[in-house]
Amino acid sequence: MIESDFYGKYLSKIHDSDFGFFAENAAIGIFELLQKYDITEGHLVDLGCGSGILAKYFISKGYSVTGIDQSQEMISIAKKKTKNAHFMLGSFYSMKIPSCNVVISTGECLNYYNKMNTNSQPKKLFQEIYSAISSQGIFIFDFAMPGRVESSNKKKWRRDNWEMKVEHRENKNLNYLTRKISLKIKTKKGEFQKQETHRLKLYEKEELESSLIGAGFSPKFVHGYGLYNFPFHKGYGGFLAKKK
Ligand SMILES: C[S@@+](CC[C@H](N)C(=O)[O-])C[C@H]1O[C@@H](n2cnc3c(N)ncnc32)[C@H](O)[C@@H]1O
Repeated sequence: MIESDFYGKYLSKIHDSDFGFFAENAAIGIFELLQKYDITEGHLVDLGCGSGILAKYFISKGYSVTGIDQSQEMISIAKKKTKNAHFMLGSFYSMKIPSCNVVISTGECLNYYNKMNTNSQPKKLFQEIYSAISSQGIFIFDFAMPGRVESSNKKKWRRDNWEMKVEHRENKNLNYLTRKISLKIKTKKGEFQKQETHRLKLYEKEELESSLIGAGFSPKFVHGYGLYNFPFHKGYGGFLAKKK
């Protein structure tokens, strides 16, 4: 069963319309990296593709794209945005990754831990990705680490027709981040409220690095994609992992 309170209708729309900057910059940076590694065409799989911002970009650059996401609402936005990409609904932790040259995952998707992916195991996922990628292929992703949030961190955004409050709490003993999202939405039918609570498992750099090596990759830790540096200063990083 798909959880309706995980990237539901309103949060998915807001993510797409007002928080797309990360995906837009990541797309440009990842494209630069693919050029550098001479992967100028082929099939790219986007894990946690969200509203399809990267899918649209890579289709425009001549790649074929499969996007995977477990939010029905995100997939519907992505399908409207990008007619030529293929989208799959479900958790990438429990599905077969299609054969490809490149796998990407942007926006700390691997960290999400909820009812649909309680058995989220990066180690198993990396092995699955290694088998799916062609030789000389690349796996590029970013992730949250312990220290992503200092202690408690509250933020608020407001637009004409919505207001969003986000409260982060990091459990330093268990390496979890809880993100409580409260939305107030104004529609023609009136104003109403919606809440989502996201739980992220925070991974140490060394833990993921050794799982990548164990799967057969040569990983390089990165602070950004190409010329784009991740905008979160602490507790955030990425890997560019090459298949040998
Ligand atoms: C912060 S958004 C990032 C979306 C997009 N990659 C971007 O950079 O804008 C996280 C996305 O990951 C998806 N997601 C999280 N865990 C997932 C999983 N195990 N399988 C599929 N999608 C997942 C969520 O539904 C959501 O769309």
